[in-house]
Parts: sequence; structure tokens; C-alpha cells
Amino acid sequence: MSDKQQTIQSVLSEKRVFAPSEQFVRSARLNADKLAALHAAAAKDHVGFWTDLARKEISWQTPFTKTLDDSQAPNYTWFADGKLNASANCLDRHLATRGNKLAIRFEGEKGDVQLYTYQQLHAEVCKLANALKSLGITKGDRVVIYMPMVAEAVMAMQACARIGAVHSIVFGGFSAGSLRDRIDDAGAKLLITADGGHRAGNIVDLKKAVDEALSEGCKSIGNVLVLRRTGHKVGFQEGRDIWWHDLVPKQSDRCEPEWVDAEHPLFLLYTSGSTGKPKGIQHCTGGYLLGATVSSQWVFDLREDDVFWCTADIGWITGHSYVCYGPLANGATIMMYEGAPTVPDAGRFWKIAQEHGVTIFYTAPTAIRALMKLGDDWPKKYDLSKLRLLGSVGEPINPEAWMWYHTVIGQEKLPIVDTWWQTETGAIMISPIPGAVPTKPGSCTKPLPGIAVEVVDESGEIIKDNDVGGYLVVTKPWPSMLRTIWGDNDRYIKTYWGQFGNKYYVAGDSTHRDADGYYWIMGRIDDVLNVSGHRLGTMEIESALVSHPAVAEAAVVGRPHEVKGESVFAFVICRGERPIGAEAEKLAKELRDHVGREIGALAKPDDIRFAENLPKTRSGKIMRRLLRSIAKGEAITQDVSTLENPAIVAQLAGKA
Ligand code: PRX
Repeated sequence: MSDKQQTIQSVLSEKRVFAPSEQFVRSARLNADKLAALHAAAAKDHVGFWTDLARKEISWQTPFTKTLDDSQAPNYTWFADGKLNASANCLDRHLATRGNKLAIRFEGEKGDVQLYTYQQLHAEVCKLANALKSLGITKGDRVVIYMPMVAEAVMAMQACARIGAVHSIVFGGFSAGSLRDRIDDAGAKLLITADGGHRAGNIVDLKKAVDEALSEGCKSIGNVLVLRRTGHKVGFQEGRDIWWHDLVPKQSDRCEPEWVDAEHPLFLLYTSGSTGKPKGIQHCTGGYLLGATVSSQWVFDLREDDVFWCTADIGWITGHSYVCYGPLANGATIMMYEGAPTVPDAGRFWKIAQEHGVTIFYTAPTAIRALMKLGDDWPKKYDLSKLRLLGSVGEPINPEAWMWYHTVIGQEKLPIVDTWWQTETGAIMISPIPGAVPTKPGSCTKPLPGIAVEVVDESGEIIKDNDVGGYLVVTKPWPSMLRTIWGDNDRYIKTYWGQFGNKYYVAGDSTHRDADGYYWIMGRIDDVLNVSGHRLGTMEIESALVSHPAVAEAAVVGRPHEVKGESVFAFVICRGERPIGAEAEKLAKELRDHVGREIGALAKPDDIRFAENLPKTRSGKIMRRLLRSIAKGEAITQDVSTLENPAIVAQLAGKA
């Protein structure tokens, strides 16, 4: 049975349904009736629906007069003649009513705590914004942020937004080489970083990676602004490098926001696709902010007294939309933690939740599975009674992990929102509304109001029936959609729209829609892996492998993994003889480290198998489906007679 058939079978056999508790429904922002009214309004007038929301939820400096322009489709624009500032929406507009409310609760791995009210955060962001200006950064300049998960990282995002600079965050787990590629592609003028970050008792030496990245290429970078976080000794290049504490504190704590057009890019975020080169997903200011703002309200039911903890790093889209922009635009208090979930022990997350009074907890299935493995005793040691809503994001959640989350963390009463979306969609697209939609373990349920999702077959025909499978597409533009791929609009059109004649946004996922119209995401249809919720392109890893002098050719596939969801499995063909025994082990370790250096530790293959050839058809195409079966250790039932060299199968399977 193929992977997909197996998943479909387990989906079809999942019959449990959990209705929201009466207590939750009573005080929910959206109950079933209110949700139905929103859906009806969106169905009646898609553009009018978003127009009303944009007027109500966003503070405009210049109101927009036109909502959607589809004349250049699929390059859509929203609210194009309106002017606003994202940072003013996240900070300034709360000062009068929430100035003394906590915006950020931060805790470091060593237990250091920092608290910032909206007033204080506003002042810090203004100072940093003025510091950026003093370095010559102006509207439209790109600023790369390569920082640990500290409050200053959110300040950096907000400061860029405040002056109209376009931030591009590179996750701190990426290597010097990945950082360099992204800086060069974005043409960034400034890099904001830290000496290092804390993770699992170690220092992540960010500055060292920065120095290495900037040692070649990166000609666009004028300055590096360095936050002192870990205090360890780092290289420092006079003239180029500037300490945060030398520059920022002396700035004025007032900085007028730069009013930008709604379509002005707010950020770029690089993500993996099926080709070797990561793409700079470009999000704009107005539409993105609207999507992040309203989805936070609907999906997380945000209330004034919530402490919202999204555990994602700001290096991923989840950290952009649900650590920084969405919650802050709503005036919420966010929790940030820099460190590993298991330091000093497996109770750390729950201890933080107890001590900071976390009410909403949003994490990834890989974290849930890892915590589940560590046992029920850890969460039981802590008082989690303030929690009222749980969320999941980034990969399909298996019903077993869902049930553990529900039973042990949720005390069988908290709603779980399994949210489907992507870097490209900017905001959550399919998710339960916690006070309105009954949940099923493993399903992200139904699209949000104003989000037009359909299932299409291989020829691109929309399938209207329920209880069907196919490709997930979005049929109407939505405000927080990506605008383009930075510097490569053709690639934007080809990648997301080309498959079905530019009619729909093709998400790249396959899905099943059950008899109740609930969506169950089956996984990617392209060569993208999802390892611990991190998106990786197989071709990126393959190029990293073949850049090693010993490697002639490589093919990478995903293999199901109990905790990571998927792990990286690499088949490698060497330039010389196929290594065996101790020699093979030594080279495998070297290649793993090499991939770590080229991309980052997150891309290191768990398995490397050496062979003399890859399974290719006579036309030279690698049979990836066969490799996936081999990686899973399945018996090979596929027809291998079309292979150029059928005998290779035994070797690839590790049997020869
Ligand atoms: O395959 C889907 C999976 O993650 C992909 C998007 O990855 P990325 O852009 O890194 O964004 C992750 C965080 C939004 C999707 O194409 N995915 C995301 N959320 C879910 C999911 N798969 C199943 N269920 C989800 N809730």
C-alpha cells in the first residue's frame, strides 16, 4: 500500500468528534451562529467582506478606496491606495488604552526574565528604528535579521516595519552558507544579529557564522548590528560591526512611523521549494497585517487577559504571524522563550506555562510527539489550569498525538485548533474556530471565512462532492497571500499558478475532504520534506551533498519518523569505489557534517546509503517512489523492469 493510501485509510477510520465545551462557547468571540454569518457575508461578497474587515481592524493613515485589483492576476493587489504602518498598528494604537499592559513576557533558558509593556516596547522599537536610520537604512532597504529567539528580535522586526525597511529573517539554525545566499538574493544592506544564542546549555555562535558568511559575497552589507546576548568572545570588524548597546540606547525614543502603501513589502522570508534555490516569499504590509490580525482573533479567540504563547521561532512564518504581527496588532501579551523544551528537564514548557500564566499554547506536532514520549508525569507536575486553548501547526498531526494533547494537556476540555497554512499564505487558512467547529483528531477542519479552498483532480477540475481526495487549491485571492517571489515574478507565477492555467493558487499539498466537508492534509505533492515542522527541499540537500568532493550523485527522500514526522534519507553515489564498512560510516558522518555546514543542522540526513547507481528509468529519470519505498524498508512490489539497471535495487536496499 502506498503512503498516501495508508494515510487515507487511517483518516477514514478516525471517527471521533469533539464539540467545543459549553463553557468555552459561552464566552467565545465566535459561536456557530456568528461564524455562519461571517461565512455567509464572505460567500455573498468576497471583496466586500474583506473591505469591511480592513476598515474595521486596521488603522489606516490614508484610507483605501479600492479593495482588490485583479487586472494583473495572478499578481493581485489589495487596498493599494491606502497608507499605513505595521508597527503603528502593533504598538502606537495600543498606547492610549494598553500602554501599561505587558506586550512581551520573555524567559531565557537560564531562567532570566524580561517584561516589556506596550509603552516600553514602543520606546525600544523607536530607539532601534532611529538607530537603523542613523546607519542609513531607509524605506525599501532590505535588512537581514539573524538572531536568537529574544525580545530584541521582535523589536528588530518592528523597527524595520516602522521605517519601511523590508526585513528578511534567517532562522538561527541555518548555516553561514545559507545566510550568505539569502543576504545576496535579498541584496540586504544591514544585518542584525547577536553574539550568540542559548540552546540546550550550549552557545549557538551566530556571530561566527555571520563572519564566515560575510567573508565572501554579501557585498551589499554595509553594517552588522550586534546584540550582546551570550557575552562570549566574538570577532569584531571595526567600521562594519556595531554593538547594539553602543548605538541603540542613546537614540531618541520617538520615531514617526513611515507611512507606506498597503502593497509596500513588509518582509521577505525564504522557504524551500522543489528546486535547489530557496525562494524569497514576499509579503506586503496591508493585506498581510489584516490576515494575521483577524486570524488571530478568530482562531485563537484572543481576549484582553490572554497570555499567548506560540513556540515557533521568529525565523519561520509562524513566528512572524503569531509571535509578532498578529498578537501585537491585537494588543495581546505574548510569551517568548529562548531555549530547548527539555532544559533543565522535560517539564520546562509546562513550568513556563504555569509561571507566566499562559492561556493559549500553540506549537508543532513534532514538539507534541517529543513531549508525549517523555511521559505524562511532567505536565502533571505543573498547574496548567490557566490554559484555555491549544493549537497545532506545521505538519499533519497524527490522531495519537492529538489525543495526548487533548487528554493530558487539554484535560479533555480545551479546544484544539489544528491550523493549516503556509509561508506563502501569510496567515491561517484552514482551522477550527474554537467556539464553533467540532474537531476531529488529525483534521484541520474547514476554511476560515473569506478563504476559498477547493479540491481539484489531476486535470484541475474542481471536485464538488465530499469524501474525495485531490490537490488543495485556493480559488479566490485573499489579502495575506504572497505577492511574488523576490526578484523572480515568473517563478512565482509558474510555481503557484502555472499548474492549472493560472486559475488557482496551488498549495502543493494533497488533501482528503471527508463526508462532513472536513479537510485532512495528506502531505506535499512536490519534492519538499517536512522535518520536525521545518520545510526542506530535497534538491537543496542533494546539491549540498554533491558539493562534497567525494560525491558524484545523490537522491534524497523522506522517511516517516516517529517524532520528526519525516526524516532525511539520502542515497549517495561516490566518485570512486562504493565505500563499505568502517569507511562508509566515516564518510557518512563527514557528509552529515558537510550538509550541516552547507545548509544547517536541521537538514542533516538521518540515513545515508551508498550505492553504485541510482534507480533510473531508461530516459534517465530517478525513480523517487521506489527510493521512498526502499527508505521505508518496504518490500518492493513495483515494476523495476523499466530500470536501466534492475540489479541495483538490492544494493540500494542495503542487501548487497
Ligand atoms: O504541507 C503543509 C504543512 O506545512 C507546509 C507549509 O510549510 P511552511 O511554509 O514552512 O509553513 C509552516 C507553518 C505554517 C504545508 O504546505 N502544514 C502546515 N500546517 C499543517 C500542515 N500539514 C498538515 N496540517 C497542518 N496543520
